[in-house]
Amino acid sequence: MIVLGIETSCDETGVALYKAGSGLLAQRLYSQIPIHAPYGGVVPELASRDHIRKLLPMVEATLEESGIGGKDLAGVAYTAGPGLIGALLVGATVAEGLAFGWGIPAIAVHHMEAHLLAVMLEDPAPRFPFIALLVSGGHTMLVDVSAPGAYRVLGQTLDDAAGEAFDKTAKLLGLPYPGGPALAELASRGRPDVFDFPRPMLKRPGLDFSFSGLKTAVMLAVRHAAAHQPLDESTRADIAKSFEQAVVDTLVAKAMRAIDMTGYGVLVVAGGVGANQSLRAALQAKAGTHGAEVFYPRPEFCTDNGAMVAHAGLWRLRAGHVSSGQVIARPRWELDELPAMTAV
Ligand code: KG4
Ligand code: ZN
Repeated sequence: MIVLGIETSCDETGVALYKAGSGLLAQRLYSQIPIHAPYGGVVPELASRDHIRKLLPMVEATLEESGIGGKDLAGVAYTAGPGLIGALLVGATVAEGLAFGWGIPAIAVHHMEAHLLAVMLEDPAPRFPFIALLVSGGHTMLVDVSAPGAYRVLGQTLDDAAGEAFDKTAKLLGLPYPGGPALAELASRGRPDVFDFPRPMLKRPGLDFSFSGLKTAVMLAVRHAAAHQPLDESTRADIAKSFEQAVVDTLVAKAMRAIDMTGYGVLVVAGGVGANQSLRAALQAKAGTHGAEVFYPRPEFCTDNGAMVAHAGLWRLRAGHVSSGQVIARPRWELDELPAMTAV
C-alpha cells in the first residue's frame, strides 16, 4: 500500500511517497522562503501561484525517481486544512484530480493531525495514549491523544501562536523571515535572564496559552534599549534569549501540567517550533521528573513536509476515511472534529 502525500497549506510545497510496512520511499520539499522574504511574511497570493508552478513537476519527479506509477498507488493524500485557502486549493485540486484520473481514492488530511502523527515515522515510536504539544506558526495547543484519531484539545492559545510570537519578535529585532530559526540562532549567543519578560498565564489554572503580552513586553524592551543608541549585538542576543526562555518556560510548565492531569507517561512534541533546541532540551530535562518520556519527530519532520501528509493519509485510508471526490479546502478546521480511527 503506497500513498502519495501532498502538502501546500502555507509556504512549503511538499511531496512524498509512503509505503505501509517499509516507510518513506521518496520525498521532495520546496520552500518558498526567497519569494516571501522581501515582504517579511507569507504573501498568500504569491504562495498559491508558486504552488501551482511547482507541485505537478514535483509529483512527476518523485514518482519517476522511485519508479512508481500512479496506478501503483493506494491513494493520494493532501492537506485539506487548516491553512491558507488559495494554497490549500492548489494541493486539493491536484490531488483530487490525480486520484480521479488514476481511479484511486483521495484522502483529505488535517494538517495538525499530520504534524501530530509525524512522530510515528521515528523509531522507536511512542505508544498511545499520549499528550501532544503542537507548536507551529498557526497553532499552539495541548492535545489529549487517547487513540489514533481520538483528539481532545486540552488548551490552546488565546491570541498568537508560539511560532507567530517567534516570527514577530524576530522582526522587531530586525531578523529576516522566517524569524523562528533566526531568532533561535541569535538567542544561542545571549543570556536568558537579562530581560525579565513575563511567563504569560502561568499563574492561572488550565492549559491555555497567550503570547501577545510577551510580544508587547519585548517591543517595549527593544524601544527602551534602542532609545539613545542602536541596539548592539550582545543586547539583541540577550533580548532574543530572554524571550526564547520565556516561551520555553511557559510551554514546558503547561505541558507538565497536562502530563500531571492525565497521568500519561508520554509527551509528543510536533510542529515547527518543536525544532527549537532549547525547547527540546528543557522538555527532556523536565519530563522525567513527571514520569514521562518525550518523543519528537526529527527536526525536518517538525516543519511542514509531504512525508507527514502521506503517512497520516495512509492511516486515514486504512480506517476507510477517504474523500468523496469533492475538493476539500478548509482554512479553519478544529482537530477534535475528526473521527477516531478504529481500523488501524
Ligand atoms: O509547522 P510549521 O512549519 O508551519 C505551520 O504549520 O505553521 O511551523 C512554522 C513555525 C514558524 O513560525 C517558524 O518560525 C517556527 O515554526 N520555527 C521555529 C524554529 N523552526 C521553525 N521557532 C523556533 N525555533 C526554531 N528552531
Ligand atoms: Zn505546519
